[in-house]
Amino acid sequence: MAFETIIVEIEDHVALIKLDRPDALNALNTQLLGEVCTALEEADGNDKVRCIVITGSDKAFAAGADIKQMSEMSFVDVYSQNLFGDVNDRICAIRKPIIAAVGGYALGGGCELAMLCDFIIAADTAKFGQPEINLGVIAGLGGSQRLTRFVGKSKSMDMNLTGRFMDAEEAERAGLVSRVVPAKKLMEEAIGVAQKIAEKSQLSAMAAKEAVNRSYELPLSEGMLFERRVFHSMFATDDQKEGMAAFLEKRAAQFRDK
Ligand code: HXC
Repeated sequence: MAFETIIVEIEDHVALIKLDRPDALNALNTQLLGEVCTALEEADGNDKVRCIVITGSDKAFAAGADIKQMSEMSFVDVYSQNLFGDVNDRICAIRKPIIAAVGGYALGGGCELAMLCDFIIAADTAKFGQPEINLGVIAGLGGSQRLTRFVGKSKSMDMNLTGRFMDAEEAERAGLVSRVVPAKKLMEEAIGVAQKIAEKSQLSAMAAKEAVNRSYELPLSEGMLFERRVFHSMFATDDQKEGMAAFLEKRAAQFRDK
């Protein structure tokens, strides 16, 4: 499909989705969010793609939902349209790993989009925040829920109530991002990590993603049972035989996703 607000490139089994509304710091209007969801779904269904990276520009991953688009909307408009209602579900349904490569601002819906990815690699220029309170609203796509699970209640309250920004170093300390790299190296690092994931068995990668995500939804005993059953089920795959044989024969594994 042809996109107008994002650029999609596929190379070496990695789909790169670049948010592309530079004049508005990649503000997330309904078109852009719809295109991101569609691009993710296409990548998920494309056999050539084994890992996905979402990124923005040097200045902004995304500065939040599009305030211009929202400013004139009434409660009836947003409620009846269920504004942004399907975005969470569509992104959570993606089975292949998704990495957010964040440089510059990731604010409001931008921070929430990054948190919807499986993990976040940040440039040292990254700034995260939930400044919706300054606009007379609150977060709408996970800023009060996912951020709290990432960084705990105290810091999440601080971010959501003051609207202050967190720099990359604080975000790494708080567990919001998995690693911080110099801005110039952001894409090299993110694509390199995605290529490493692409070398794994796709079955193991999808199962690992599924198991980690269950930890958000289940009590520990149920999560442990889910993990163990999925672990057991991997022994039905050729890739388990190949992975373990390759280790014992001291060679690289040739996974076939079977
Ligand atoms: C629409 C935006 C925008 C946004 C920036 N722009 N953020 N347009 N929606 N969220 C536009 C500006 O209007 C301006 O356009 C251009 O991008 C450059 O922005 P500046 O403000 O001039 O840049 P700068 O001074 O460098 O400040 C950067 C900034 C600031 C600190 C990121 O732009 C800012 O505070 N933006 C809003 C952040 C925010 O409140 N996000 C939360 C949105 S609510 P012109 O035409 O003037 O050049 C939200 C709800 C989520 O996200 C709900 C679920 C999805």
